[in-house]
Amino acid sequence: MTRWKSFTVETRREAVDALSHFFTEHGALGMAYDERLFGPEGDPADPLPPPEEVTRLTAYFPWEADLHSVKQEFLDFLPVLAESFGAEAGSFVSAAEITDFGWAEKWKENFKPRRLGRRITVKPSWEPYAPSPGEVVLTIDPGQAFGTGTHETTRMCLQFLEEAFDAAPLPLRVLDFGTGTGILGIAAARLGASCAVGIDVDPKAVEVAGENARINGVEDRFYAATTPLSCMEGRYDLVLANVLAEILIDLKQEITARMERGGWLVLSGILAEKSDWVEKEYETAGCRLAGKKEDGQWAALLLRREGTAP
Ligand SMILES: C[S@@+](CC[C@H](N)C(=O)[O-])C[C@H]1O[C@@H](n2cnc3c(N)ncnc32)[C@H](O)[C@@H]1O
Repeated sequence: MTRWKSFTVETRREAVDALSHFFTEHGALGMAYDERLFGPEGDPADPLPPPEEVTRLTAYFPWEADLHSVKQEFLDFLPVLAESFGAEAGSFVSAAEITDFGWAEKWKENFKPRRLGRRITVKPSWEPYAPSPGEVVLTIDPGQAFGTGTHETTRMCLQFLEEAFDAAPLPLRVLDFGTGTGILGIAAARLGASCAVGIDVDPKAVEVAGENARINGVEDRFYAATTPLSCMEGRYDLVLANVLAEILIDLKQEITARMERGGWLVLSGILAEKSDWVEKEYETAGCRLAGKKEDGQWAALLLRREGTAP
């Protein structure tokens, strides 16, 4: 038996992904929404009968979570959500303390080994997997952190990461901003980075990322810390940041200040309709677009800082 807290909101169906992302960033361990509103196959894209526009989304938090502050953060986030999804993008419904009989393990059923890039496969530790020649298998145990590669935003980062590592020279120093499980920094270390640093505001994520580095045998090349971006020094050949567009824009100067001239930048976590905005903002900070991907409602950008490395 496990005890949890739940936080339920009403939202427009198309905003479910953005809100799930938001709750994950505020410590939620999982999400559920009212699938009865969808067709028999459970496919939101092919509903039978047509779904209601509004659905309920419940985010599950650990017992220690402070739902008062989650509620305040959610209320503060509503104007941002409204910019993309309209005035009635979300409203608070309820918060509850719940006793759970197995939900915590259920998500594991969906986390299977998956090839996510040309070479990269991600798997959980409990699934055996025989790699083919040249395949890079990352073993990721998410614990309470975000980043198994099942989310579009992580997947696109991994694909851009491979592209940066296919180019010359190899990015040797890598900064993974908002590291979560450490998946991107660990992937960089496995692809050949000599030093990858993951930073995250969440100490639990940092702990998980450190453990994943150990499982993947890269603890000598990847380490994670809660060091704020503003306190980081040095320049990196590749910077990765999978956080929401608003955070990326807020931190544009601090992120680009950590990039080597000619260095790579992967930005993800961007709602597709905001990608031009993010691109323009980063252009004003001296970056040029080198690639763009879209997957579902999410977009990711590959940028290069102007100039050549000294
Ligand atoms: C969407 S997850 C990305 C995790 C992983 N990098 C991936 O791509 O799957 C975003 C992560 O960024 C962290 N984060 C959000 N805002 C941050 C900030 N201002 N400084 C550091 N970390 C932040 C969150 O705690 C969360 O672990």
